[in-house]
Amino acid sequence: MISRRDFALSLAAPLAIPVGLHAQAKAIQARIKIDADRRIGDIDPKLYGNFAEHLGRCIEGGIFEEGSPLADKNGYRKDVMKAVKDLDVTFLRWPGGNFSSNYNWKDGIGPRDQRPARLEMAWGTVESNRFGTHEFLDYTEALGIEPYVCANLGTGTWTEAQQWVEYCNVADGTAMTKLRRQNGREKPWKVQYWGLGNEMDGPWQMGHRTAEDYGKFALEAAKLMKWTDPNVKLIAAGSSNFREGSDWVGWNREVLAYLKDHIEYLSLHTYVGNAANDYHDFVAVSNQLDDRIRTAAGIIRAAQGGLSPKNPIYIAFDEYNVWYRARGNSQRGRKILEEHYNLEDALVIATMLNTFVNNADTVKIANMAQIVNVIAPIFTNEKGMFLQTIFHPLQLFAKNTRGAALQTFLDCPTYESKSFGKATWLDVSTSLNNGVVTMNVVNRHLDQDVEAEIEIQDGAFKGKFEVAVVTGPDIKAENDFGKTTVQTATTSVTASGSKLRHRFPPHSYTMLKGSIA
Ligand code: AHR
Repeated sequence: MISRRDFALSLAAPLAIPVGLHAQAKAIQARIKIDADRRIGDIDPKLYGNFAEHLGRCIEGGIFEEGSPLADKNGYRKDVMKAVKDLDVTFLRWPGGNFSSNYNWKDGIGPRDQRPARLEMAWGTVESNRFGTHEFLDYTEALGIEPYVCANLGTGTWTEAQQWVEYCNVADGTAMTKLRRQNGREKPWKVQYWGLGNEMDGPWQMGHRTAEDYGKFALEAAKLMKWTDPNVKLIAAGSSNFREGSDWVGWNREVLAYLKDHIEYLSLHTYVGNAANDYHDFVAVSNQLDDRIRTAAGIIRAAQGGLSPKNPIYIAFDEYNVWYRARGNSQRGRKILEEHYNLEDALVIATMLNTFVNNADTVKIANMAQIVNVIAPIFTNEKGMFLQTIFHPLQLFAKNTRGAALQTFLDCPTYESKSFGKATWLDVSTSLNNGVVTMNVVNRHLDQDVEAEIEIQDGAFKGKFEVAVVTGPDIKAENDFGKTTVQTATTSVTASGSKLRHRFPPHSYTMLKGSIA
């Protein structure tokens, strides 16, 4: 691990050096090549989604805090709204998660003071229902975020799911639309993205079913939802994890057999952690993610008869994050699922985002779980908030990695990780958007620089390149109220010609962004 002093010196050192000049200290050597014509696919803006569940302090005390001096007249926390905007959140999933599997949406509409409080069994609490459909959809509308509503396919009925679509999406002329108008909303919100339940493969889920039972039940719900609004896009509950011993392949195969002609996305979830406290193993976990994405894409392809389908089914990673410490009810005095993230977690998030971008032809949705307080990049108390380490890579990706994903050729020494096979010291993704190239590079090495020669084929780098680095004095460095240790540091370099040499500091994530001619 490098000392704080060495860390300060490494930031002060020039980050890019011209080709031919010797590096100041020994660095691992790598080569990166890109070619603007070699495209993987379009990067869907919905890769930069988040998730808001009725869980702990995500909604109440996070997004929404009625009576707080920090809240607006609707009860939305203004500081949180600003952070959500700064994060460029494109897509927000709600109301769960496990919560959605016993949620009756009709409890959450009408005058707030008349809404029923209900026992909440997913997380063992009481749901006030003061934040419901109107509060969620008005929030996304105010922030220009695409909403994604997960229907209750646990204890809920087909009719409840159908009527929720009708309430949100149909203009007028029915009892449901009259009810919406009575509740103060004239025009429909036109919610396009709907989940057919959450993690229905898990025995922890209320209304858990076998794959066959879920497939049959979800198929009828899908028909009714699409007949209510043919524009809706449906996301089926695929496997909740890839854990050893879980038949995640079998679940997805069976569910697709029933739903393949009725859905646009298959949802997959993944949470990763470093319980063994093995840094180099942990930062290689995206190898597994990449492998699972390719396997899932193959399962989808097989379900569609191996043909190029007219209606493709994409992968929706509608829950992903680092989550392993705050599994129980409290963590270091904090409340439920309140993970405190460090630098290594932020690096892992950058490698997960690299993996989504490198599979941009099949992964079209990703929701970091969640948005505030609960396994989240934004953390509040009643007086303010701070940005967790994982906020920074997500923000850099969301703001800059847009357009088309490019294939990146990488020639880089590797190491043998304990659980995830060989890993390259650098982990890379590249995008191209209107002549602007963005390269995301994680240096997984704990204490050595990696110097790369970056070459663009059939073109040249042109002018000023923005260099944004997320690193810190120590892989365990954390942020807190009043303490920002891990954040984005920005500099620039001038580039010309087809090659650029850059030195990536140990345990860091770097974004390089500039024009190509
Ligand atoms: O995001 C926290 C929980 O993790 C969600 O409610 C559930 O879907 C998953 O198991």
